Amino acid sequence: MSRTGDSQRSVEARQPAGDRPGHLGFIMDGNGRWAQQRQLPRTDGHAEGAEALRRVLRLAREQEIAEVTCFALSTENSEQRPAEELEFLYELLADHLEQEREEMERLQICFRAIGRLQELPRRLIDAIEKAQSETSEHQGLVFRLAVNYGGRAEMADAFCSAGAGDRSLIGAQKESALAAQLYDPAMPDLDLLVRTGGEMRLSNFLLWHSSYAELYFTPVLWPDFAAADFTAALEEYSRRSRRFGSVSSTTSGGDA
Ligand code: IPE
Ligand code: IPE
Ligand code: MG
Repeated sequence: MSRTGDSQRSVEARQPAGDRPGHLGFIMDGNGRWAQQRQLPRTDGHAEGAEALRRVLRLAREQEIAEVTCFALSTENSEQRPAEELEFLYELLADHLEQEREEMERLQICFRAIGRLQELPRRLIDAIEKAQSETSEHQGLVFRLAVNYGGRAEMADAFCSAGAGDRSLIGAQKESALAAQLYDPAMPDLDLLVRTGGEMRLSNFLLWHSSYAELYFTPVLWPDFAAADFTAALEEYSRRSRRFGSVSSTTSGGDA
């Protein structure tokens, strides 16, 4: 399994899509609308969203997907959502990590969190650190949760730490130096990015790692995202032709 985020390694790892993505990302959107449709508080939508997350991780494991990264809370959400909703989300995430201990053992999930974690409440930081340390040796599926995460913040921080002014670096070395400073340098590029909830935008998710991701947008709200929707996304991915800037083998022509 490729665990490297080094951009040179990413270049080497580039392959045609094949059957299934190695690294699958989810922008888990639509919880609020799911609740609204039922005249429930938005927070009920988030609680139901946690069920969808459980379901998706089981499906990913069954499909032998190597790595899954899910967007739980953006830096913009942290700045702009009402305090009560944020507090609910922090508690929900901490509870979820505690309740999923057995499941993470059973599925051999290796958990990691990415984002400005230091700004989160102490209880959530503790739950994250505990889950990371308890699951670090698990070999089944790398599951990353992006919490208080922003793609621009990640790159801006990495740019400063990488010594942006180092002029001795040439070509791909510059990208490698920056990639080494991202939140989790072991995280590979995304192969498939799924966004639920109908919006067709990235909303600041994994800007570095999605440069060549296949994008899949579905109107299905995250709490409703079911096995059939998961399968439909993977089937669509298997039909995509990934070229990474080259010419397609069917259109390249030539003498052969
Ligand atoms: C996604 O669902 C979860 C978070 C951003 C925390 P939303 O809360 O954005 O749900 P909608 O988009 O309002 O339906
Ligand atoms: C993106 O959803 C963030 C997460 C799913 C965690 P938002 O609901 O915050 O995105 P916008 O505001 O519609 O772009
Ligand atoms: Mg939303």
